[in-house]
Amino acid sequence: MTEMLSMTKKSSAGQEKPSELADLGAVRLAALRCEYLQDPLGIDICRPRLSWQLRSERYGVRQNAYQIVVTADASAGLVWDSGRVPSDNSTQVEYGGPELLSRQRYCWRVRIWDERDAVSNWSADAFWEMGLLTSADWQALWIEPVQEPARPEPKINMFQNLGMISPQPDSDYSRLNPCLYLRKTFTTQGSVRKARIYATAHGVYRLEINGVRVGSQELAPEVTAYQGFLQYQTYDVGELLTPGANVIGAVLADGWYRGRIGLPGDSCQYGDKLALLLQLEVEYSDGSRQWVNSDHNFKSSSGPLVYSDLFIGERYDVGLELGDWHLPAYDDRTWQPALRADYGYANLAAQYGDPLQVVQEIQPAAILVTPRGETVLDLGQNISGRLRMRVHGPAKTVVTLDHAEMLDSDGNFLQAIRGRNKDQRDVYILKGDGVEVYEPWFTTHGFRYVRISGYPGEPGRDDFSGVVIASGLRDTGSFSCSDERLNRLQENIRWSQRGNFVSIPTDCPQRERAGFTGDAQVFGPTACFNMDVAAFFTRWLRSLRLEQRQDGQVPACVPYWNSYIEMFTPIQGGAHTSAGWGDACIIIPWTLYQVYGDLRVLQENYSSMARWLEYVRQEAEQGIPERLQADLPPEVRERQKYLWNTGFHFGDWLIPSLTGGYWNPFEASNATKEIAASCFYACCTDLMAQIAGLLQKPEDQQQYAALNASIRQAFAAEYLSEDGRLSAHYQGMYVLALKMQVIPEQKRRQVTEQLVALIVENGCRLDTGFVSGPYLLDVLCANGRRDIAYKLLFQTECPSWLYEVERGATTIWETWDAISPDGQISTDSFNHYTFGCVGDWLYRFVAGLDKDQPGYKHILIQPDLAGGLTHAGVSYLSGYGEIISAWKLQEGRLTVRVQIPPNTSASIRLPGADAALVGQQCLPGLLVSQVQDGRTAVLEVGSGAYRFEYPIDPVEVFSQ
Ligand code: BGC
Repeated sequence: MTEMLSMTKKSSAGQEKPSELADLGAVRLAALRCEYLQDPLGIDICRPRLSWQLRSERYGVRQNAYQIVVTADASAGLVWDSGRVPSDNSTQVEYGGPELLSRQRYCWRVRIWDERDAVSNWSADAFWEMGLLTSADWQALWIEPVQEPARPEPKINMFQNLGMISPQPDSDYSRLNPCLYLRKTFTTQGSVRKARIYATAHGVYRLEINGVRVGSQELAPEVTAYQGFLQYQTYDVGELLTPGANVIGAVLADGWYRGRIGLPGDSCQYGDKLALLLQLEVEYSDGSRQWVNSDHNFKSSSGPLVYSDLFIGERYDVGLELGDWHLPAYDDRTWQPALRADYGYANLAAQYGDPLQVVQEIQPAAILVTPRGETVLDLGQNISGRLRMRVHGPAKTVVTLDHAEMLDSDGNFLQAIRGRNKDQRDVYILKGDGVEVYEPWFTTHGFRYVRISGYPGEPGRDDFSGVVIASGLRDTGSFSCSDERLNRLQENIRWSQRGNFVSIPTDCPQRERAGFTGDAQVFGPTACFNMDVAAFFTRWLRSLRLEQRQDGQVPACVPYWNSYIEMFTPIQGGAHTSAGWGDACIIIPWTLYQVYGDLRVLQENYSSMARWLEYVRQEAEQGIPERLQADLPPEVRERQKYLWNTGFHFGDWLIPSLTGGYWNPFEASNATKEIAASCFYACCTDLMAQIAGLLQKPEDQQQYAALNASIRQAFAAEYLSEDGRLSAHYQGMYVLALKMQVIPEQKRRQVTEQLVALIVENGCRLDTGFVSGPYLLDVLCANGRRDIAYKLLFQTECPSWLYEVERGATTIWETWDAISPDGQISTDSFNHYTFGCVGDWLYRFVAGLDKDQPGYKHILIQPDLAGGLTHAGVSYLSGYGEIISAWKLQEGRLTVRVQIPPNTSASIRLPGADAALVGQQCLPGLLVSQVQDGRTAVLEVGSGAYRFEYPIDPVEVFSQ
């Protein structure tokens, strides 16, 4: 129990400030965002939320009130003036004016009153622009180029797919379809004031006007649950139009709609034909308007993209190029008029969140000749994306680029991805007239190495670039410390996030690219630290709600492709879900609320969460495990209602001691599913009680809380023995049970001892699976065993985080022993972020930056020195601005640097500090200082930059 021993000072910022620090200037407003984006184009949120940040050199700055003014762009007429609203809220403030109109651009500005009631200047103007809000706004028709319907892939079963039984079928290239080119000529009618394209496709598309690419988004319209949610994109094309004749061009490829996707590598998940919907709206200076819509006047042809499949790769034959098809005078008589299709507009929604784009380019580290004599390019980094190549050679030369994550133990190229249609092979056939640059359009690969075959002449490093493709998420967190291996671990985690936050949170970029719900919830907190993922997850949750089954089940992956339904049905006995996976529908919104203070995400998902929990409740209530089918004492039977101990579950997926890499994945599931499922039942009823409270649903709150209490009781009675041992005696089970509060208070010590004993017996190496991983180190620290937590962190033997790092990993692996200690390279994924969930703990615990209130309104700074590092630091761009916590230990002195953004406050807990001394060091922003446990100074501060320096006795501090 924490004990407050003394109060050394009480002051209120503003009253007792030293005069030289008094008023260093007024508050400025910056970083205006609408729905988390800077000046978004074409949104369809009826009541968008606005955020801003306060900037000031003063200390203890807070917002007392705000005023927002919204004007309509063209007329500058006032749309909404919020007036002075007393509120300290500066993030996610909902627009409260009249109904917003399709196509309209809204400009907005804000000013605030600070804690002294001084009013700031107005911010600079920001804007958002509405897209097409109703079906009636669409004049364009869906069109389909004349095409052969795609032929679906033959069915294979999961074991064949996983390579567990042979043979794994070869890709059948004869089933791949040509990309389709569409064009239409039109004439502009005057001086253009504004021009927008609204477009989407069945498949993926790229647009151009007069041969110039429209926008920079990759693989539009991206991947969502198309049946109910197909995004259209909005492009500002005013600059691309020329007076007189213009040509609009589109290229379509299979994408997720009809390409080979997921582990099963099945095609035609949504349909067998590609289609386009495009509406160009031009507004002229004289106020007149022109529409250029997709219709039967578009003409189509095949061209040089012989095929371009998301997974298999792309083939580009320059010999088939279409010449000047972007010029108005082009003779398109051999092209065929597109056909009208009737898909309607009901599932259309504006793009939400950052689009897929090229986020980085990488120069290769080396070009190797392998023992087998092959030329292999080494990027030096495992990425998700593609390779750009410069090449010069005779016409019709065929260059083949094969992509892989690893070399084998002899240093040879190794293409060993499990599953069908995972070739990752791009083929380019040269034109032969000078230097040619090739970069695929509609495929991406998970790779570090590329085998280059057929390249004319000697390929050099400068002839290639690695092009990283991901959702364009803003980096928000950075971490560094005195141990380079931990820094690399954090980098690897970020790379795995970049490689898998590709429109949806995918499991891996080379094998499945499926939106596994479990993986996403496990990694959620780390993801939020690294990047701004609020809109990204919010969009994916919309797909999740659409994929939720009638009976409330939330599938194991979202979108839930038919091929997965077919694959899971026999394994999961007809169920679509698992504990820890389906629970993502509650845990992810909760994480977003915690990190961004976003209440709307809770509201939007509440009924989906409630339906999921109702499904779980019924499963728990009705199911009695087989082992208990015999006569049961009434109290034992009664408690079964509160245990989710039946049905299929992935359990603590991939516990290394049970699964032997990936060879027996279901061993871990079977051994742990009962306890894991009941723990998640407890966790989610508890979260739901809190969420119901926040959303002012007191009855629900009570019911969930009561259910939670019964689950906890039942759990202890069923699974916990006298000596604190759980019936499934695995590290992860103790972790889950402790974290999810199903262990009675008086038993926590014993249960912790069981966990510690297991870890020690295992040589202080990890033996946790997917769902317990994120809590392991926290649980140890919260139960007094920081020593063991650090032993696990610094462990370098397999399985451990640093084992991977020391083995040269540049991303996080799917299994702890993807490269075994004897150097064998497995067929597992080398880019799976899930086990990277430790990133969050490093930020929070080692560098000591945590949130104490949702959205970081109140911050906790609490450096931990016990790991033996000499420095560690973190910077995090919260919704309020940058937060920094950085500490350094040198020659018996500890320096701690802290930055707290305006409109927030913080508790700073300094180990081994004299409260009076450190209190003096943060005077301008100090509110209260206390000493806790006689050894930790606790300072309550307002915003500002602080630096503390004091002598410290490391021995005393380390032992805390
Ligand atoms: C995926 C995982 C996923 C698991 C359980 C695997 O094939 O790669 O990350 O969570 O299946 O369904």
